[in-house]
Amino acid sequence: MSQDNSRSTFRCIGKGSCGSVWAQNEFQAIKREDCHPERSVQNDFNMHRRLLEALEASRHLTKMCVPRCHELIQNDNTRWWDEHGPNFPASYSHCKTLISERIPALNATARQHLIQAFCPTERQEFVKSNPSDQDCLVRLYLGRRRHTARSERPSKLNIFSLRNFPLHLDQVELLGLDALPYAKIMAETLAVMHWAAGIDGNDVEFVLASPRCGDDSTTTFDSPSIGRHALWVLDFDCCRSMTPDEHGVEQACGAFFRNDPYYPRPNPANEGDDRLWLEFRRHFIETSRNLLGSDSELPEMLMTRIEAVAMEKRREQVAAASNHA
Ligand SMILES: Nc1ncnc2c1ncn2[C@@H]1O[C@H](COP(=O)(O)OP(=O)(O)O)[C@@H](O)[C@H]1O
Ligand SMILES: [Mg+2]
Repeated sequence: MSQDNSRSTFRCIGKGSCGSVWAQNEFQAIKREDCHPERSVQNDFNMHRRLLEALEASRHLTKMCVPRCHELIQNDNTRWWDEHGPNFPASYSHCKTLISERIPALNATARQHLIQAFCPTERQEFVKSNPSDQDCLVRLYLGRRRHTARSERPSKLNIFSLRNFPLHLDQVELLGLDALPYAKIMAETLAVMHWAAGIDGNDVEFVLASPRCGDDSTTTFDSPSIGRHALWVLDFDCCRSMTPDEHGVEQACGAFFRNDPYYPRPNPANEGDDRLWLEFRRHFIETSRNLLGSDSELPEMLMTRIEAVAMEKRREQVAAASNHA
């Protein structure tokens, strides 16, 4: 695909494996199904809608932020493509396209803080003035620290971008943020996805971003470091239907570990991290029981299964490390 954006009035604000994401203004995000033939914005649309409907009925349980889902445009929708097609770069053909609410990026003060805290000095001036770094969403990884027990050294990644900036648990602490309220929203989100929407949450993303303007029905946070912000969930194209039974529990457990490390993880080796996991676990079960009834065993079954798989993975890691030594 050409990089020539000279004729474009839509600006590319993100890329994933399913598609490229564009914005014309601050309100709408336009996701094109133009990257991977096996990924589908139709499924994204269906799953996104299902979650929003479930959320409507569960607003007393969670105030999580989910973008509004506006419209699915087919590639033969001549009315839409005649009007908007020319706003993409010339080489971009018509394809299935999903229009949803744009998640507002973190503001300049927050970006400045992130740059000062985490950007290598020699790259700071570039990032400050680089337009694409203004589309700043922060992926919240409560299940991972940068310093692994094995290396005890920070990652040497020299790529720094504020687009989808990965904020690990140790960095959450460095910014003076309390991880617990975010962990609770993630637990509520997961419970609503599994038991109210009937979807497995496969590959969804959790990002810190600005709150929706003028909306007091969703949870917002304030901090001296990154100012007012909210936790948003996005990207539903890899989600699949799941049933509320043992098979569904296995599917949900698979999705939990396949995803990037957003959710807290059981970790007996670190007391603080394990406490965060236990709070996540407790809150997931509490929210789930409100949805399924207090006699359902499924929420506890899922959490216990996740703990067992985490233990297995840790054993494998230890074995692999001792084989290397
Ligand atoms: N509604 C949105 N508002 C703002 N940015 C978005 C929105 N949707 C997606 N993005 C950005 O575009 C990136 C790719 O979109 P995503 O839906 O994750 O595509 P994929 O399914 O290909 O991973 C996201 O990681 C995010 O940075
Ligand atoms: Mg994605």
